[in-house]
Amino acid sequence: MSTYELLDDLEAGELSVEFEGEEPETVLEWAIERFSPRIGVSTAFQIDGVAIIDMAYRIDPEITVFSVDTGRLPQETHDLIAQLRDRYPGLNLDLVEPDPVHVQRMVSRKGLDLFKESVDDRLICCNVRKVRPLTKVLDGLDAWITGLRRDQWATRTNIRKVEIDHDHGAIVKLNPLAEWTKDEVWDYVRENDVPYHPLYDQGYTSIGCAPCTRAIEPGEADRAGRWWWETNAPKECGIHCSIETGGFEHELHAILGDDAHD
Ligand code: ADX
Ligand code: SF4
Repeated sequence: MSTYELLDDLEAGELSVEFEGEEPETVLEWAIERFSPRIGVSTAFQIDGVAIIDMAYRIDPEITVFSVDTGRLPQETHDLIAQLRDRYPGLNLDLVEPDPVHVQRMVSRKGLDLFKESVDDRLICCNVRKVRPLTKVLDGLDAWITGLRRDQWATRTNIRKVEIDHDHGAIVKLNPLAEWTKDEVWDYVRENDVPYHPLYDQGYTSIGCAPCTRAIEPGEADRAGRWWWETNAPKECGIHCSIETGGFEHELHAILGDDAHD
C-alpha cells in the first residue's frame, strides 16, 4: 500500500478538467513528480506507446517502463524493443511474462490457439497471457500511465486524463494522450525521430499478439485487425475494462485451479 494518499474520484475528475487542453508532457511531469518511484509507463510498443516512452524518458530517464510479453508477440515487436534500448540508453524497461504454469495448464487443456474457438476462449487466453501478469505489476504501483486515446475505439471515447482505476486496487491511471488524434501522435513520432513498430509500414494500424492481429483493408477501422474473426465482441482484452460474460470466468478458474484468484 502507498506511503502517501492516493487520489479519490472527485480529485481525479478535477485534475482531468484542469489538464484538458494541456500537452501530454504536462500530465506526465505532474504524475512523475507526484508518484515516483511507484509509477510505471505501460506500453505495447504501438505508436502511442513509443511516443509516451520518448516523452517520459525526457522527463525522467529512470522512469519504469513495463510491457507484458505474452509469449505470442511478433518478432517485429522484439526488434523494436532492441531499437528502443539503443535509442534510450539505460531505459528501465521490464518485460513481464505470464505465469508459465498457468500457460501450460491452459495450453494443455485448450490448445495453443484456443482463441479461434470462441470469444470466451479468446478472453481466457488474454486473461492468462496479458491481464493477470499486468495486474501483478499494478499491484506494486500507485499509478500507471497508458497510451490510451479517445479516438481509438467506441469503448474509449470517454476516457479522462486522470482516472481512479477501480479494476486495479483504486490506483491512479493516467492517459496523457487521451485528447490527441492518431495524426498528432504520428507527427510527434516523426518530428522526434522516435523508433516505431515496423508493421505499421505493412498496413497494420493496431498491433498486439501475432496470431490475433492483421493489417486492415481499405476503409476498415483501425482496430478492425484485432481479433478480426470475432463478431459482436468487445475488441478489448480486459486490461482496460473488466469483461464479464458470465461464461469464461468459470472455465478459467477450472483450468487454473485453486490459485486462479492470484
Ligand atoms: S488492448 O486492450 O487492445 O491490448 P491496446 O493494445 O489498444 O490495448 O493498448 C492500449 C494501452 O494498453 C497501451 O497504450 C498500453 O498502455 C496498455 N497495454 C496494452 N497491451 C499491453 C501490454 N502487453 N503490456 C503493457 N501495457 C499494455
Ligand atoms: Fe492470446 Fe491473442 Fe489475447 Fe494474445 S491477443 S493473449 S494470443 S488471445
